[in-house]
Amino acid sequence: MHEVPILGAGAGIVRGCSVEKSVGIIPAAGEGTRLRPITFSLPKHLVPLLGKAIIEYPLQHLESIQVRDIVIVVGYLGHMIREYLEDKGYRAKYVYQEKRLGIAHAIHTAIEQAGISGSPLVVYLGDNILLEKLETHYKAFIEGDYDVYVLLAPVPDPHRFGVAVVESGRIVKLVEKPREPPSNLAVVGVYMFRDSDLVEKLFRELKPSWRGEYEITDLIQKFIDRGYRVGYSVVSRWWKDIGTPEGLLDAMQMLLDAIEEPVIRGRVEGNVTTSKVIVEEGAVVEGDIKGPAYIGRGSLVSSRARLEAYVSLEQGTILKSGVLVNTLVMGEGTTIDIGEAQLEDSVIGRACEILAHRTTNRMKLLVGDRARITID
Ligand code: G1P
Repeated sequence: MHEVPILGAGAGIVRGCSVEKSVGIIPAAGEGTRLRPITFSLPKHLVPLLGKAIIEYPLQHLESIQVRDIVIVVGYLGHMIREYLEDKGYRAKYVYQEKRLGIAHAIHTAIEQAGISGSPLVVYLGDNILLEKLETHYKAFIEGDYDVYVLLAPVPDPHRFGVAVVESGRIVKLVEKPREPPSNLAVVGVYMFRDSDLVEKLFRELKPSWRGEYEITDLIQKFIDRGYRVGYSVVSRWWKDIGTPEGLLDAMQMLLDAIEEPVIRGRVEGNVTTSKVIVEEGAVVEGDIKGPAYIGRGSLVSSRARLEAYVSLEQGTILKSGVLVNTLVMGEGTTIDIGEAQLEDSVIGRACEILAHRTTNRMKLLVGDRARITID
């Protein structure tokens, strides 16, 4: 890992480029096929997690390093992303990636369509959530005078990611989703580039991979092969890729674990035996909460319901009865009334109705918006 230098004289200048001019690019065009059926009616970037759409995490992270010039690359259900963010007052440019040809292609699309030239770029994948503060890494990128800067995270399942081979403190190779991973260091979905023109130049030499995509790892490999300076840091706080139901629940757990003290804005009458809890305005909790939980605005946890651990009830969830464990309910009118039954490792869409009358079984559900499920 690189030492993080302190910003000194000349701070704010990246080899002739003003850092203030850094452009943030958020690729958010993907179809989210691995999150179906949730993503049939909602782009994965708008899935709510602890009261915020997933894409708001990268946006606020970029804001935290004063990157305010933002380009969002949309595609699948892109109009929904734009409407949602404009309604919430986020300012960004939107560019459209017609074919999903990979992350390197998304970056190229942003540069070309938004007319970016000679700017440093901070690319933050719209489906990655990082707890780590970006500031230290951004400073390391600037101070170290790097052409490219990436974040790496040790993971137990590197074959799902881009993987880095590091020798004597330098990245020598990046491989995309290798069957036999050469290391356990996954490439996190945050990439910094010194000069957008150079990115464009090397992108033009890129060929699609076996899966037909212009891979970000191949693009960065070109920088390595040409002898450009590619720096990295290893992130110490967790990050997750939310592209799968498991990843989404992992991200939820990570965010719930990060709650430092209880925030109670609603009415709590039940027994709450965890400090990792947020109860939003207008929410009513009559039942017990034992483990980390988020209760969104206007939600209800009735006296016949219990939250065991790691539950997020997003805005407008009505939990009439049942026991919930490691479950995300996307709210907006979703009603759950399952008696003595237990819902675990589940993701429940918006405006659903989940009813169970006699069963006391444990259930694991992945259901999209407006589903009606009745179990007798
Ligand atoms: C992409 C990148 C991969 C990176 C991952 C992080 O993969 O290609 O290198 O490790 O994001 O989320 P994707 O999950 O989009 O297939």
